[in-house]
Amino acid sequence: MDADNKLILSTPNTDLEQEYQAYIAEFAASGEPAIFYRLPDEDFAAFVAQLEREERGEGLPDWAVPQQTFWAVRDGRIVGILKLRHRLTPALENYGGHIGYAVRPSARGRGYACRMLALALEHARALGLRRVLLTCNPDNHASARVIEKNGGVRDTDGIHPDTGLPHARYWITL
Ligand SMILES: CC(C)(COP(=O)(O)OP(=O)(O)OC[C@H]1O[C@@H](n2cnc3c(N)ncnc32)[C@H](O)[C@@H]1OP(=O)(O)O)[C@@H](O)C(=O)NCCC(=O)NCCS
Repeated sequence: MDADNKLILSTPNTDLEQEYQAYIAEFAASGEPAIFYRLPDEDFAAFVAQLEREERGEGLPDWAVPQQTFWAVRDGRIVGILKLRHRLTPALENYGGHIGYAVRPSARGRGYACRMLALALEHARALGLRRVLLTCNPDNHASARVIEKNGGVRDTDGIHPDTGLPHARYWITL
């Protein structure tokens, strides 16, 4: 583990455009599905502005809730992306929860996801949340470990909306 205090959660900003593109390119090359990131729109500044609107809850579809996007940066490089939703809906309570994250393939196994979640919990606390829900595929042992290391306690399973299979749900008390 070398996740030291050099890792920060940054709000999206246009200074990180090249880094963001490199992050996406690495995922695309790895063949992993796009997770927790979107391709920037035609214009990167417009893309960042859209993420800021999501945080303020402006122009959201009915099913969506305000959510913050954080880019986890270490030594100027985006190593991961994390989303913090401000509240739950019945659908998110079953699947999705408050927080989702991913770490780029080349940066895994160094404790970054654990550190990202720990930092995000401080933001959740600042929002006034008393506990947060995280959900993950029962086969996703790395993610389950990240959640458990941050105090996650498993609840009854949810049902994956696409596959109908059980989905693990964990609460972290803040
Ligand atoms: C899940 C993910 C975020 C983990 O990121 P990471 O930065 O490599 O995680 P960390 O290094 O902080 O630590 C992961 C923990 O899981 C453990 N781990 C890693 N791979 C594992 C595996 N295949 N089986 C069991 N444990 C595993 C690590 O050993 C570590 O535990 P430890 O500290 O006790 O040794 C990363 O694999 C990823 O982005 N996956 C794709 C997206 C995803 O699944 N996101 C979560 C959706 S719920």
